[in-house]
Amino acid sequence: MNEKEIVLSGIRATGNLHLGNYYGALSKFVKMQEDYDCLYFIADLHALTTNPDPKALHENVLNILAEYLAAGVDPDKATIFVQSDVPEISEMYLLLNMHVGIGELLRTTSFKDKARKQLGLSGADEGDIEKQIIGSETNKRVNAGLLTYPTLMAVDILIQKAHKVPVGKDQEQHLELTRRFARRFNSFYNVDLFPEPENFNFGGHAVKVPGLDGSGKMGKSEGNCIYLVDEEKVLRKKVMRAVTDEGPKEPNQPISEPVQNLLTLMELTSTPEIVQSYRDAYADCSIRYGDMKKQLAEDILKVTTPIRERYAEIRADKDYIAKVVRQGADRARERASKTLEEVRRAMGIVKFY
Ligand code: TRP
Repeated sequence: MNEKEIVLSGIRATGNLHLGNYYGALSKFVKMQEDYDCLYFIADLHALTTNPDPKALHENVLNILAEYLAAGVDPDKATIFVQSDVPEISEMYLLLNMHVGIGELLRTTSFKDKARKQLGLSGADEGDIEKQIIGSETNKRVNAGLLTYPTLMAVDILIQKAHKVPVGKDQEQHLELTRRFARRFNSFYNVDLFPEPENFNFGGHAVKVPGLDGSGKMGKSEGNCIYLVDEEKVLRKKVMRAVTDEGPKEPNQPISEPVQNLLTLMELTSTPEIVQSYRDAYADCSIRYGDMKKQLAEDILKVTTPIRERYAEIRADKDYIAKVVRQGADRARERASKTLEEVRRAMGIVKFY
């Protein structure tokens, strides 16, 4: 038997997808669906850890589904589903939590960052975050769902017995925990249920897509994003306003970070010749940022326009979206329910009537 390896990845339902999501995740999802048995889902339960408005959450789930499809994820090749449509995940989350240490969860970097935010602490008064959490007033609580975020993520992966999990660097620690939980479960019950999943950089090195604000990567919370569904006018405006520098002062000086960021975006969207011409123009001080940005906007639009147009069609077709997720949920549940049964059995939760 020649079974394909299982690839699984998810995106939290917290807003529209941007170019960083596209180059970091979506475009790879589309390529991987040809060679692997792929499951892609929308993590709506994970989104709950930051208490979104219910209406916004529902809209976001639909938006991201439509974005997956518009970007080329094919429901006949890959399984597309919504996390909460697979109740087996929630049950296994309870079971796996029995083997997860509070300490290891408290030490997770993403937890500490988000907890700090929920408590309204600035970077300066980091102090002993664990004490602050325990001592915090009830109106400023850190919810337990946030603490157990890694358990839920591990379950997403383990319940499908995934081998490869394409995620960004920021998720590496969660994946490490997932491997640890898998080993722990296997050895505690002396079973061989879970493969240890590995990060998967499909097609070589990880791309870090920079934002338009001169430093750092593109991120929803940074307000420096180009969204896949940005209207043409909006997108052009954003690019024209991108941060640059005052222009090179002498030939061959090192390229400043904001300009390098624009070049990185160009490398993703333009031809190598175009990128080189702007590098040369920087080197001989003839660069004109206005022209460069116009070119960049043009080339980004070549990528996003077809996606935006397909998105509008798909998003308006609720019946189609419903059909896709129903089919995805069925497939995802089939695998998940088998694993859950094995987990229950291993733990001694066995029906005897
Ligand atoms: N935590 C991931 C993120 O914020 C989303 C996610 C949830 C995920 N469950 C997953 C990714 C399982 C890969 C596999 O990006």
